[in-house]
Parts: sequence; C-alpha cells; structure tokens
Amino acid sequence: MQSRAMSLEEGKERMNQSKGLPLRLLRLLVMFIAVCVVFSVISIYTFKHFGIENVVTTMSSRLQPCYNEPEDGSLKKWIRPPSNLIHNMSDKELFWRASLVPRIKKYPFERVPKIAFMFLTKGPLPLAPLWERFLKGHEGLYSIYVHSLPSYQARFPPSSVFYKRQIPSQVSEWGRMSMCDAERRLLANALLDISNEWFILLSESCIPLFKFNFVYNYVMKSKYSFMGAFDDPGPYGRGRYKSNMAPLVNITEWRKGSQWFEVNRKLAISIVEDTTFYPIFEQYCRPPCYVDEHYFPTMLTILAGNTLANRSITWVDWSRGGAHPATFGRTDIREEFLNRVRDGHQCLYNNKNSSVCFLFARKFSPSALEPLLHMDSKFLGF
Ligand SMILES: *[C@@H]1O[C@H](CO)[C@@H](O)[C@H](O)[C@H]1NC(C)=O
Ligand SMILES: *[C@@H]1O[C@H](CO)[C@@H](O)[C@H](O)[C@H]1NC(C)=O
Ligand SMILES: *[C@@H]1O[C@H](CO)[C@@H](O)[C@H](O)[C@H]1NC(C)=O
Ligand SMILES: *[C@@H]1O[C@H](CO)[C@@H](O)[C@H](O)[C@H]1NC(C)=O
Repeated sequence: MQSRAMSLEEGKERMNQSKGLPLRLLRLLVMFIAVCVVFSVISIYTFKHFGIENVVTTMSSRLQPCYNEPEDGSLKKWIRPPSNLIHNMSDKELFWRASLVPRIKKYPFERVPKIAFMFLTKGPLPLAPLWERFLKGHEGLYSIYVHSLPSYQARFPPSSVFYKRQIPSQVSEWGRMSMCDAERRLLANALLDISNEWFILLSESCIPLFKFNFVYNYVMKSKYSFMGAFDDPGPYGRGRYKSNMAPLVNITEWRKGSQWFEVNRKLAISIVEDTTFYPIFEQYCRPPCYVDEHYFPTMLTILAGNTLANRSITWVDWSRGGAHPATFGRTDIREEFLNRVRDGHQCLYNNKNSSVCFLFARKFSPSALEPLLHMDSKFLGF
C-alpha cells in the first residue's frame, strides 16, 4: 500500500513537472497582470486623492511592464519646493538632506532667488498683520518658516502668508544649544526650497522698517551676509572663551554677535552641515556663555570671515541697560522715532558709508501693531 501511494505521489509530481510547466507560467502571468492592475489603480487613486507622488513613483518603477508615470520626467520634481512643510525626518536626517548641494553652479532653469523669512517664536505672532501687509503682492520672492513651541497650534486662515508654514519644532531654551538647534532646523527646512537664497532669522517682536522691494534689493545687492560678529575683549566677550576650544577655535577668532542674522545660501549650508564646531560649543559654551551669541559668529568668522558684514540688520535698543533690550509699545510709535531707527546710523554697506544700516527692528509689543498699521501706508510704504 505504502509503496503504491508513494508511486502515485511521485507520478503526480512528475506529471506536474512535465505537463504542468506552461500552466504554472500562465497562472503566474495572470497573477502578475492582476497585481499590476491593482497597483496601477491604487497608484492613480493615491495620486489623485492624496497627491503622494513618491508612492506612485516607487510602485511604477517596480512594475515596469505596467508603467504608469505620474510625473512628466522633467527636472520639475528636483526643483519643486515641498508642498507640505510637515515631515517625519529627524534633525539628523533633515540636516543631511538639506546639505545636498548641486555642484554645477549655473542653474539650468530660471531661478528667481527668494528671501526665506524664518520666525523663531514661542507661539503666537501678534504682529502678523504687519508682515502680511509688508509681503502682499510679492509672492514668488519670499518664503515663510515658523518655529514655535511644539505644543503651540497655529491657527492662520488659508489666505494668510503664515498658513501651513509651521515646521516640525522642538523646545528651545535661550542661551542653550537647543536654541541653535532650532535656528539650524529653520535653516535646514528653508534650504529644502532650492530657490531660497537669503535666510533671515526674526522673532515675533520684529517689524520690517522698509517696504519689501527696498529690503529685497538691499539684501540682494549686498556683497556680505549680515551676521553680527565682533571681538569683545571684556568679560561678556573673550571672558566667555574657554581654552579647551583651542586649537579649533583660537581666542583671536572668538566672536560675539546678535542671534538675529541674515545669511546667504552658502553660509546657511555651512551652518547646517557643521559637525566640527558644534561639539566644541556644545561642551564648552554653557551659561554664562550664551551659545547663540557665539557659535555662528565665531564659526563663520573662521570659515568665511571675509564674507561677513559683521553687523546685524535687525536693530535693537540696549541703551536702557539690563539683561533685556527695550520693548516698544503703542506710545513709542511716532515718525521721529521710526525715522531715527531707519536712517539715523552709520555703517558700511558694500564698503561704502551708509546711514541705512537696519531693515528690521525689535522689540515691539503687540500694542504697537495698531499704530503701525495706521501709519505705515504713507510712512513705511506698505
Ligand atoms: C509621520 O508623520 C505623520 C504626520 O505627518 C504621523 O502621523 C506619523 O505617525 C509619522 N510617522 C512616523 C513613523 O513618525
Ligand atoms: C592664536 O593665533 C595667533 C595668531 O593668529 C597665534 O599667535 C597664537 O599663538 C594662537 N593661539 C593659540 C592658543 O593657538
Ligand atoms: C568682518 O570681519 C572679518 C574678520 O573677522 C574680516 O575679514 C571681514 O573683512 C570683515 N567684514 C567687513 C565687511 O569688513
Ligand atoms: C566713512 O565716513 C567716515 C567719517 O564719518 C570716514 O572717516 C570714512 O573714511 C568713510 N569711509 C568710507 C569708506 O567712505
């Protein structure tokens, strides 16, 4: 019995091997086509309903026979900015992605350089209506990025320039490395848009001092990036230097500067890609060494000092003394005051003397909004 059964099985086996071969191939082919059809349907559905293009790309590249190209195969997908600023990348992943740089310098398409306005905030943007008015009509020449406390839920209407411009954020503390992390996060997210050429860090208490075109031209025509960087021999300057930082950082290269900077794309990449200076500053510049006042100014002085204007374009008033700069409110907003801030200084602009040294100013309280909105159309020009 046993041997018969075995031979029956063997016979079955042999039959399958000989006659069954084309049948199996046919079945496989049918299954393959079915899978292709299902995948194509899913692809089209996902594309139409969620716009998840990379899902479609992956699928169609795996399934060559049922090729279903949702993209036109042009350069577009490489130069299109992310449509959604929310992503799942860790800082490590994001910084790596942001540090990818084209090596051919000339863009093979018409690139209109944009200013990235990067708002480093706790939460609300009380002066948002002023910025809305400042930016109105200049679409295509700027992008907005907002970093706030992760717990904060922004509620801007779709018509707002701040709508869906919030980036994945983390808690950051003044004077700590987490503050520099937040600034690097803003830069890295802004770098993902290849058209962003200048990167300006602002706070919720900043206001623009001139109309958009003036700001754009001032920044565009500058030979230097506006990073505040000076050598302060006193206790709050060189006094915060630690000899452990040598030989990477020499005390003669130690710089101090306001954290409110403007940098070009090249320097933005230098900041995001840095793994050399970061650990040194993280380890040796802790309160009372406020790392956000020293890390970028010192690092960029060492790497590219001759490209820095060594001054900030954001005005702030320390004249009242103390640990915090002056805050201006409703009663301060008068033409004489703003004139003095806009035009009452002396500095070098492209190696020439200039009285216009600041394009932005801080700190302004929410109560300044209304008088600013009332005066601006004739005075500020927006
Ligand atoms: C990715 O982000 C989405 C929100 O965009 C979130 O719902 C999801 O849990 C995240 N996934 C991972 C693996 O972090
Ligand atoms: C710092 O640099 C100067 C010259 O730039 C040099 O004379 C000095 O020895 C350096 N100091 C250290 C600690 O490396
Ligand atoms: C800024 O300072 C660096 C040295 O720290 C210098 O090389 C550079 O020329 C300065 N920039 C301007 C515009 O003077
Ligand atoms: C700027 O003005 C000062 C006097 O206010 C003068 O000494 C200096 O040479 C001027 N610099 C340039 C580059 O014109």
